[in-house]
Amino acid sequence: MSDSPAGHGPGDIDENGRPAGDGPAGDGEAPGAPRRLIGTPPPAKAHALLAGEPPGRPPAARELPADPPDPAKAKRAERVVAACFLIAMLAGIAFIACYVIFTGSTLTDVQHSNLALGLSMALTFLGLAVGATIWVRRIMPPVELTEQRKPMRSADEDRAAFAETFDEGAQASQFVKRPLLRRTLIAASIPAAIAPVMLLRDLGPLPGTSLDHTVWRRGLRLLAYGANTPIRPGDFSSPGGMITVVPDGYQDDFNALAKAACIIIKFAPGQIVYTSQPHPVPGHVVENWTVDNIVCYSKICTHVGCPAALYEQTTHHILCPCHQSTFDAARGAEVIFGPATRPLPQLPMTVDSQGYLVARSDFTEPVGPSFWERS
Ligand code: FES
Repeated sequence: MSDSPAGHGPGDIDENGRPAGDGPAGDGEAPGAPRRLIGTPPPAKAHALLAGEPPGRPPAARELPADPPDPAKAKRAERVVAACFLIAMLAGIAFIACYVIFTGSTLTDVQHSNLALGLSMALTFLGLAVGATIWVRRIMPPVELTEQRKPMRSADEDRAAFAETFDEGAQASQFVKRPLLRRTLIAASIPAAIAPVMLLRDLGPLPGTSLDHTVWRRGLRLLAYGANTPIRPGDFSSPGGMITVVPDGYQDDFNALAKAACIIIKFAPGQIVYTSQPHPVPGHVVENWTVDNIVCYSKICTHVGCPAALYEQTTHHILCPCHQSTFDAARGAEVIFGPATRPLPQLPMTVDSQGYLVARSDFTEPVGPSFWERS
C-alpha cells in the first residue's frame, strides 16, 4: 500500500514480478487487498504503512518512543551496561600495563606475556560487546525500522528522511540523555583504541648501523660450535670438512651469533681459486685471509638469512636448505644457483701466537640478506 491513487509507490513490485501499478494486476487491484511488497518504502512512508494510513492521506508525523517501556528495568540495565564498559576500560588498561611489565625474553616469559595480553584484550572487547548488546536490547525502545533499497543516490526527500531517522535514532539511543553510559563507553573505548598502537613497539628500535658490523674483531679466536674449543689448522685431519665456528666469548650470545656464525672449510692444495688482492674479487678467495687452505665464510645466507649449513665435498658447494641457494666455496662463495644475489662474505683470518685460528678483523662487508644491496 502507498499514498498513490492505486495503492502503489514507485519501485513497488507485485507478486508477479511486475512493477506495481503497471497492467491489469496493478490497475484492477481492489483497495485494501493483501499485496506483497519487494523492497521497503522510505522511513516516513513506512511509518504510514505500518500505522495503516489510508492511501492518499498525507503520512502522519513520525515519532519513535523516546523512552523504553519499563524505565525501572532500563535503569537496572543501564547499571549493567556501565559495569561492562568499566570492565572493558580496566581490561584495556591492563593490556597496556601487561605490555609494559612483561618484557622478559625467555620462552616462559613470552608465554606469560601472550596469555596476559590475550586475556586482557579479549576482556576489553567482550565488555564492549556485551555492554553494547544490553544497551540496544534493554534500553533502546523496541522499534523496527525499514528502509527501501534504491539506486546509488537517494532522492532528496529520502536523504532528508534519513537525516530525520538518524536524528531519531540518536534520540532513541539516549546517548545524550544518559551521561553515565556515554562517559563509560568513551572511557572504555580510549584504551581499546590505544592498545593496538602499543604493538608498534614490537617493531623494535631502529637498527642504525648495528647491522653493518658483527662482533668479530682482530685476534678473536674461532671456536668449534658445540665443543667450544679453539681450532688449529692442523686439527683438520684431511681436506673436505666443514665446521661451524663462533667467536670466542659469544658462543651463548644468540643475538651476536645471528650475524657472526661462520663456517670454515679445508681444501686440498690447488682447489681454491685465489686472488692476491687484499679485498674480495668476484669468483675468487682472498688468499691473504686464508690459513693453510682453510677458508672462513659467513654462515648467514645472503638471500633471507637462513643458516647455509650443507656442504658437498666433491663439488665444494655450500647449500642453503631454505630456498636452495648454492655457493661455490672454492670461488669466493659466489652464487651458482638459487635466489641469493650475493656471495657469502669471507672472514679475514690468520693464526695467533699459539697457532689458533683467529680473525684478522670484522667482515669487510655486511653479512646476511641482500637487503644491503639497497643501502
Ligand atoms: S635463505 Fe638461503 S636460499 Fe633463501
